[in-house]
Amino acid sequence: MKSKWADEFYKMQYGNMSAVDASYYEVQADEIMEQIGKPVDSLLELGAWDGSLAKAMSKKVSHMTTVELVKEMAEAVKENNPGNIEVIHGSFYDVQITDTFDAVIYIEGFGVGTDADQLELLRKIGQWLDNEGCALIDNYQPEHWKKADDIEMRPDPSNNPDVIRRYSYNFEENIIMDTWWKKGHEKLAQTQYLKCYTPEEIDKMCRQAGLRVTVYFPGGAMDYENMRYFEHASLKECMSYRIKIMNL
Ligand SMILES: C[S@@+](CC[C@H](N)C(=O)[O-])C[C@H]1O[C@@H](n2cnc3c(N)ncnc32)[C@H](O)[C@@H]1O
Repeated sequence: MKSKWADEFYKMQYGNMSAVDASYYEVQADEIMEQIGKPVDSLLELGAWDGSLAKAMSKKVSHMTTVELVKEMAEAVKENNPGNIEVIHGSFYDVQITDTFDAVIYIEGFGVGTDADQLELLRKIGQWLDNEGCALIDNYQPEHWKKADDIEMRPDPSNNPDVIRRYSYNFEENIIMDTWWKKGHEKLAQTQYLKCYTPEEIDKMCRQAGLRVTVYFPGGAMDYENMRYFEHASLKECMSYRIKIMNL
């Protein structure tokens, strides 16, 4: 594991968010299959959270492997396992995976650690891909997150109304700092740090890792002035964009 905060932060986040409806993940899985654009026999999912997406994806592939850092969540993946998922608990920097896959996905989460860490992960992803395989990775768009600096909100107002999060943006390093705490307990706040890359920067880093970006899929955007979310946004304005990458 490269970042000391990651295990504790994601464990806390998991404990402070209510479960998302399965139908959300079914839609995600359809979108992912469409973006991969061909049948998938074997799939590797990095940063699998509690296995909700894996469960939806496992209906569309013959077999899959998940890697999740947080023990409690890896155990949840096992509980959610319909039978064709190999569940690995550990950091994707450390685990030994000798198989190769038709596709690798890392949905929300890329950007933890240094540039060297991201480069190492991209190189690993390249090694885990079959010859014609592709990977989908979500990247945070710096132009969007600059507008989120100092924004405070409740991430799960209905079920966890006491939980507050604040975004701060490090303009020099292009890092989102996402700090969570329970009302009245700000001293116990925990922060995740996510590096944002422009499409040009990630393209350059992929090339360094022996990969090429074949498609950019922009996601939605938040209008922080009116606190409204828009499902579709341009590549420049989106919160994150997904890249489809293949070996060079
Ligand atoms: C922001 S969450 C995204 C979860 C899920 N992919 C989704 O889209 O809902 C990031 C996930 O990646 C996991 N993670 C972070 N660093 C990791 C690492 N080095 N190895 C394996 N999993 C990691 C976290 O524990 C967390 O479950």
